[in-house]
Amino acid sequence: MLGLLLLLSVSLSGEVVLSNVVHDRCRATIGSDNDMLQFHMNIDYLLCEFFMCSATGKSCDQFDPSLAARGPPPFGCRRGNFDPLYRQAIEDFGFIIIGHLRATARALRGRVIPRPLLNISREAIARSFVNGAFRCPLTPPFDPYAAPDQHAIVAQFITYTASLLLNGAIPRIRDRDHLSLVGKLLGMRAGQNAVFRGRLYRRSNATVVPYEITLAEFTKKTAELVNRQAKCGVKDEGVIVPRSLGAENRTEINILAADVNSLMYTRTPQEVLRIVYGSGNESVPGGFFPKGANGRIAERFRRSRND
Ligand SMILES: *[C@@H]1O[C@H](CO)[C@@H](O)[C@H](O)[C@H]1NC(C)=O
Ligand SMILES: *[C@@H]1O[C@H](CO)[C@@H](O)[C@H](O)[C@H]1NC(C)=O
Ligand SMILES: *[C@@H]1O[C@H](CO)[C@@H](O)[C@H](O)[C@H]1NC(C)=O
Ligand SMILES: *[C@@H]1O[C@H](CO)[C@@H](O)[C@H](O)[C@H]1NC(C)=O
Repeated sequence: MLGLLLLLSVSLSGEVVLSNVVHDRCRATIGSDNDMLQFHMNIDYLLCEFFMCSATGKSCDQFDPSLAARGPPPFGCRRGNFDPLYRQAIEDFGFIIIGHLRATARALRGRVIPRPLLNISREAIARSFVNGAFRCPLTPPFDPYAAPDQHAIVAQFITYTASLLLNGAIPRIRDRDHLSLVGKLLGMRAGQNAVFRGRLYRRSNATVVPYEITLAEFTKKTAELVNRQAKCGVKDEGVIVPRSLGAENRTEINILAADVNSLMYTRTPQEVLRIVYGSGNESVPGGFFPKGANGRIAERFRRSRND
């Protein structure tokens, strides 16, 4: 059993119906525009809370209580130990995501998914992502809120995964207004990701206190973990790479991760779930989403575990 493909069938009424068929684990997920936009909102809910909590100590609910659509508050919200410049940048990024969630909710036809339960605690991030990346627990435990370097490592891989998800959705979106929205979200998300990658590259030789591990090594390890979990080849890369992964095979510097033609990679919702659940399995919630992501695509994969 290789995974699930959501097969699209359109009934006479034009209603999009999802039915699951066993198929290649890297094949694109098929769903309506609504399903894909709702799926994407899960990742933006995560980014909103990760940014706002770490910048201000408060949930996005404090800034726009309507966005969560009655979803539960995030678990593990914590203000980061940041210098003023970094803190302000992260707060700006949180406000940006609030606008994106509002615009996406308005573009949806029908129901807005409630925000899923999110676990952004330092324990969850250390256990599900960083210890996995090094294949052993770091001592002292990794804390993404301890300093900007640690925070940027985590912010980098979430914004990168979010960008690839949006890029992967483009060929599947039917409505022109929805496509235009996805383009506008993608540009902003890739821009946010580049800010983190640029910072990680500039400081790539610096060691992350108190570990004797450089930022270059951290980005390599988290990229390897993400690729292992997603199970669809190398799409995530560190900021320093072997030449074979650098642009035109001519550089080890990899500020922007990309394919052999330096084009942006894509990811499907299944790949993204395998990553953000920290489980490597789109049917097994965990990591940032202890009860799973919301909306038809994520729910379909979750139900399929009992099929
Ligand atoms: C969040 O993750 C931590 C570490 O795995 C766990 O101890 C805690 O119970 C989780 N919280 C929720 C609400 O799932
Ligand atoms: C990291 O150190 C290497 C070796 O000293 C040096 O060549 C490189 O320019 C440094 N990179 C950065 C981004 O400082
Ligand atoms: C770079 O190397 C890879 C194999 O490692 C190859 O597939 C690719 O075509 C090369 N790219 C260029 C521009 O030479
Ligand atoms: C994913 O988890 C489900 C439920 O535990 C299991 O049935 C399935 O075999 C797993 N898939 C893979 C690829 O491990």
